[in-house]
Amino acid sequence: MSNLGHNLFRTIFEIAPFGIVIADGEGRPLKANPAFMAMFGTSAEELARGKSGGTTPSEPLQRLMSQCRARITATAAETAAQRVTLQRTDGSAFFGHVITAAIDIDGHPGVIGFIQDVTGQVLMEKEREQISAQAQQAQKMEAIGTLAGGIAHDFNNLLMGIQGNISLIMLNKETGHRDVPHLKNIEKAVVRGSELTRQILGFARGGKYEVRATDCNHLLERVVALFSRTRKELTIRKNFQEPLWSVDADQGQLEQVLLNLFVNAWEAMPGGGEIQLETANLSVEENTPGRPPDAALGRYVCLTVTDTGIGMDAQTQARIFEPFFTTKKTGSATGLGLSSVFGIVQNHHGFVTVRSGKGRGTTFRVFLPAAAPAPARAAAAPAAPNGRERPATLLLVEDEEMVAAIADQMLTRLGHKVFLAGSGAEAVAIYKEQRDKIDLVILDMIMPGMSGAEAFEQLKTIDPQVKVLLSSGYSLNGQAAAILNRGCRGFIQKPFTIDQLSQKIREILFAPESAPV
Ligand SMILES: Nc1ncnc2c1ncn2[C@@H]1O[C@H](COP(=O)(O)OP(=O)(O)OP(=O)(O)O)[C@@H](O)[C@H]1O
Ligand SMILES: [Mg+2]
Repeated sequence: MSNLGHNLFRTIFEIAPFGIVIADGEGRPLKANPAFMAMFGTSAEELARGKSGGTTPSEPLQRLMSQCRARITATAAETAAQRVTLQRTDGSAFFGHVITAAIDIDGHPGVIGFIQDVTGQVLMEKEREQISAQAQQAQKMEAIGTLAGGIAHDFNNLLMGIQGNISLIMLNKETGHRDVPHLKNIEKAVVRGSELTRQILGFARGGKYEVRATDCNHLLERVVALFSRTRKELTIRKNFQEPLWSVDADQGQLEQVLLNLFVNAWEAMPGGGEIQLETANLSVEENTPGRPPDAALGRYVCLTVTDTGIGMDAQTQARIFEPFFTTKKTGSATGLGLSSVFGIVQNHHGFVTVRSGKGRGTTFRVFLPAAAPAPARAAAAPAAPNGRERPATLLLVEDEEMVAAIADQMLTRLGHKVFLAGSGAEAVAIYKEQRDKIDLVILDMIMPGMSGAEAFEQLKTIDPQVKVLLSSGYSLNGQAAAILNRGCRGFIQKPFTIDQLSQKIREILFAPESAPV
């Protein structure tokens, strides 16, 4: 080879922007270019010694090179390429793209390696993967939410059919009739079914319906009374701040939150124990423990539920808000309790914190943003005389035939006169003709064709004072809340019993002040 050729190859070796290393048949480096030394943070001497103070950058490389050499020999290929993690002299790692080729060094087998540092590229790919995984997760949650909402809606209509028929049969039976226990059992199953859909809805974050200024002390008292009636083995201590700031809340959903926490506490204390309840007005600051970064600062009402139960280790704690995560073996535990707590509280712009340790009990704190005005205590509806309504005339708008038939019969049993409409358009037509006679419209929210929201707007155009009770098994994207804000008088969640229906009607028609909620 001419001198020029020699110099040229030397120059290429010196200035190559990637590492070049030549090794013997065992992969021991014999010669490397400056880019290689810079990449590994080593020197020609260190390389020649094969060792450098403590770390040996050449060792993994040597292994790699000899492997490559072996592979090239075995497969009779001329080159091999792979992406590997390599180590610099200082111990730090980087990603290298290594291409090796078999060469002959003065009649002995050798190997040459070309190495490119691809760390930046690898990190970028990883980041891209992570972002797309997050987007996928968000999409998945949204899809699950939509699915759950759809199922809950249809399922609640079915339950309504069952519940309604039972209500009507029971009205015809003497209390001592032998069928009554069976009917009661069916009713229990319906209640269990509707609890399940409620949990799913809480998790799906679909159903915040009836937002009222709420005093959480009253709410807690109510839920405690309901809960403790059947669990005498528990001691419940209360430490409530008075007066407690009011919060804007869907009371049904908050009851669900508290019941879920109470039931969990109870289940964590199989041998009995103590539940400590606290309420407090609090100011949430930047550094309040457990505050998620996106939670607003300011005035909150804090509800604390502490138990003396089995507690949880950190691993369990990390997963408790996941839907369907449960450590319980019983068939009825679905693992939806806390995920619905989480969904509902988030829906109220609040947050939940947890403190626990194995064998050391558990404390859940629910933070809800305080509302500005004082709670307007809902006026209790006057009891219906002799259990019957003051008769009224109602327009029932419901596309689901079974639900329509049941609600119609319930209303008739309560002594009301009923007009039936199977669609929003039909309802508007009937209301135009009969508006003077109709005291109240019961409007289903999700119907094909004209939606409940549109029907409500049209009814309001005909009569701005129209009284509407919204009914639904599910609210899509807070639709119900939006309609309620526009002056609808109330909301009833399917499946409802005849008593619940009667109570709602009385609240709207006969309460002293039937102001919009
Ligand atoms: N107070 C508590 N003490 C100890 N562990 C708890 C407590 N609350 C929740 N956990 C743990 O968190 C898990 C998830 O709770 P979650 O309420 O979501 O579901 P679940 O109670 O298992 O089932 P479900 O509520 O559907 O009946 C429980 O299985 C339990 O391991
Ligand atoms: Mg639970």
